[in-house]
Amino acid sequence: MKQDMIVVLDLGSTENTTLARKIREFGVYSEIYPHDITIEELNKLPNVKGIILNGGEYRHVDDQDVDVLDELYHVECPIISIDYPTSKTDIQYDELPSDQILKAFVFDTCQAQANWNMQNFISDQVAHIQQEVGDKKVLLALSGGVDSSVVAALLIKAIGQQLVCVHVNHGLMRKNESEDVVKVFEEKLGANLIYIDATERFLGKLEGVSDPEEKRKIIGNEFVYVFDEEASKLEGIDYLAQGTIYPDIVESGTKTMKTVKSHHNVGGLPEDMTFKLIEPLYQLFKDEVRACGVELGLPYNMVYRQPFPGPGLGVRVLGEITRDRLEAVRESDAILREEFERVGLDKKVWQYFTVVPNFKSVGVRDHERSYEYPVIIRAVNTIDAMNASIERIDYGVLETITDRILHEVKGVNRVLYDLSPKPVATIEWE
Ligand code: XMP
Repeated sequence: MKQDMIVVLDLGSTENTTLARKIREFGVYSEIYPHDITIEELNKLPNVKGIILNGGEYRHVDDQDVDVLDELYHVECPIISIDYPTSKTDIQYDELPSDQILKAFVFDTCQAQANWNMQNFISDQVAHIQQEVGDKKVLLALSGGVDSSVVAALLIKAIGQQLVCVHVNHGLMRKNESEDVVKVFEEKLGANLIYIDATERFLGKLEGVSDPEEKRKIIGNEFVYVFDEEASKLEGIDYLAQGTIYPDIVESGTKTMKTVKSHHNVGGLPEDMTFKLIEPLYQLFKDEVRACGVELGLPYNMVYRQPFPGPGLGVRVLGEITRDRLEAVRESDAILREEFERVGLDKKVWQYFTVVPNFKSVGVRDHERSYEYPVIIRAVNTIDAMNASIERIDYGVLETITDRILHEVKGVNRVLYDLSPKPVATIEWE
């Protein structure tokens, strides 16, 4: 990597990620490391221009007072400390210093260059991947989610047909989602893509299963079996690519920040498959991943799509997954998304979807008594998915959506809007 770097050392602050992100916003690359990093480890990092000791209020990690190793105070690059009280600080703060002070440190004291941007990242990574992979092949499970899509686009740019993408359609995808993956990656980007429609296999395994955790387990396990079967048919694959991103690696606030996600048994692949891992996005925060995707030419709606759970629509068809209710969820979700896009709510609301429960109610259709399912609309905003509040949707918009769902979705006679925040509810219904 050619970019200059400011290292943030975690001495117990809760603001490590905010600080690293802020420095990156200045255009300077920044990474977070644990307080007990050794000088050898530090010397291995490329282009370190300065170090920030980030202690927060107490310089406590796991209830213990902490400091960096003494040897760290003898490195040649500039060091500041953000905490109080302390004996070795240049600045004392109870929160992050102003942009002005941080910029003075980064640019004046450390003389760092503002060369962190997605064009540089992509050209660095392309060169790095080409050098690492050579003429070998790389395998990627391409779900169509943001991270795996951006990894795919980056690898296609770097090694083209040496990347083998496997897309498993588990039958619980949203409307046209798998088709879009094929359209974008095979048709537009020319990817070497293996598309597996495993709908029948998944739905078969899920028959009669109503417990949400059991459903999750079956979907997760089956996904691994299908992917493994496909992978074992392929020959000459040396690498497995993963969409690991920086928040997967960093855990804020404690020395557990050292914990790098365990890479053993990735996706539960068989032990005799000895792939080397390649994780080209491991340096990026989510918004940087999206910016990278845009720079690589991926469509906006793929890069800025809302979060979608691994078990897909499977946890939005409550109880046993039946085909009629799966179709009702898929169709009503598509209508909700279309209408949200039409009024711009897709850019405002964090996550929005529909749910179909496993009970019916009485209605009137074509002058006759009907007995059909309700559709529940959920639209929430959150920062970290731990707490969420509902979006206050305009009644006119809700009425349009309701009207469309009642007329276009088979077997549905009521539309409800879920007003519950998280907690006490969760975002998903299962
Ligand atoms: P809850 O329902 O726990 O959801 O409030 C919080 C966020 O997590 C997503 N979610 C999942 N994501 N596998 C996933 O990959 C799952 O089993 C799963 N369950 C919930 C949910 O969509 C929301 O964004």
